[in-house]
Amino acid sequence: MVELAGVTKTYGDVAALRGADLVIRRGELLAIVGPSGSGKSTMLNIMGTLDRPSEGRVRIDGHDVAGLSDRELSALRAGTIGFVFQQFHLAFGVPALDSVADGLLYSGRPRAERRRLAEQALRRVGLGHRLHHEPHQLSGGEKQRVAIARAVLGDPPLLLADEPTGALDSRSGAIVIELLNELHEAGTTVVVITHDRDIAARLPREVRLKDGRIEHDSAGAGAAPSRSLVPEEAAR
Ligand SMILES: Nc1ncnc2c1ncn2[C@@H]1O[C@H](COP(=O)(O)OP(=O)(O)OP(=O)(O)O)[C@@H](O)[C@H]1O
Ligand SMILES: [Mg+2]
Repeated sequence: MVELAGVTKTYGDVAALRGADLVIRRGELLAIVGPSGSGKSTMLNIMGTLDRPSEGRVRIDGHDVAGLSDRELSALRAGTIGFVFQQFHLAFGVPALDSVADGLLYSGRPRAERRRLAEQALRRVGLGHRLHHEPHQLSGGEKQRVAIARAVLGDPPLLLADEPTGALDSRSGAIVIELLNELHEAGTTVVVITHDRDIAARLPREVRLKDGRIEHDSAGAGAAPSRSLVPEEAAR
């Protein structure tokens, strides 16, 4: 689903990522952990094609990102990738249902259908009883679940979540993680950044970043490129 090969990202004289190699198979659920500033969000943004690497190769769902035009990239994002960002992006005064439905604004679907799908997504995250609540009437955990509903709206095969539990108490955090687990069980590939060691330890795979490098990968590939996956890639 995702392949990073020798991915480096520099911002001026800051090297946010240095030669990252990572293969994520379809249907995996994995945590990205590491200290603040270690490059986690940078890596997720590159996986999400929101940012291009300074060096290295990025393949998402079989597409070499470097070869895609901006238009093709937008199409890849719209059809394949759902994001839950580190900061909430819920507009003030907008009810949950509209916040989620707006995620389909450019999908070409009629308004009634956008709202029907939004309602479905909100029910999926357990917020069927909060459809008309505005952000200030929702708890932090509920807001985060609205953000997830928006991210899973078109049922994207790849879900990228940046600290979805960062601002939550442990109970709300557990609900969000349970939700990500359910999506994973339904077949979605889920990549979640977390500061929470307990959460990371309970997920099937953990990738640890330090100073822009992959310091550890519980899948066993470590910082080395996972050669075993190359023949399968070539066979596709
Ligand atoms: N647009 C940018 N311009 C300059 N430097 C940047 C930019 N974005 C990130 N950086 C730097 O790159 C490094 C990695 O940032 P990144 O946001 O990926 O860290 P992170 O691991 O997500 O940290 P946190 O846990 O605090 O969210 C940091 O030192 C940061 O200051
Ligand atoms: Mg970050």
